[in-house]
Amino acid sequence: MPVIQVTTRDGRTRQIEGQVGRSLMENLRGGGIEEILALCGGCCSCATCHVYVEGEWLTHLPPIGEDEDELLETSHERAANSRLSCQIPFSAALDGIAVTVAPED
Ligand code: FES
Repeated sequence: MPVIQVTTRDGRTRQIEGQVGRSLMENLRGGGIEEILALCGGCCSCATCHVYVEGEWLTHLPPIGEDEDELLETSHERAANSRLSCQIPFSAALDGIAVTVAPED
């Protein structure tokens, strides 16, 4: 099963199994990453699923959407590698992707 490397706000990195066909956010929550609140349920309106995508993985993702970009723009914690994990479909091609949970806004 493909895996996701996730670093939580305490700096610890864990590996969780990812299910293809679910979003990255759904996989993070399913893997017990409770810092990903996902308050809107994945409809791109809360930004509580904000992650930093590490290294080259950013280039493997679909381009950022207009809604996602506008919502991230409201975050004080936005960085060049910011994405909303609910907007990223998880696929086998993302096996090993590394993300860090962004600080709380
Ligand atoms: S879960 Fe709300 S924007 Fe991603």
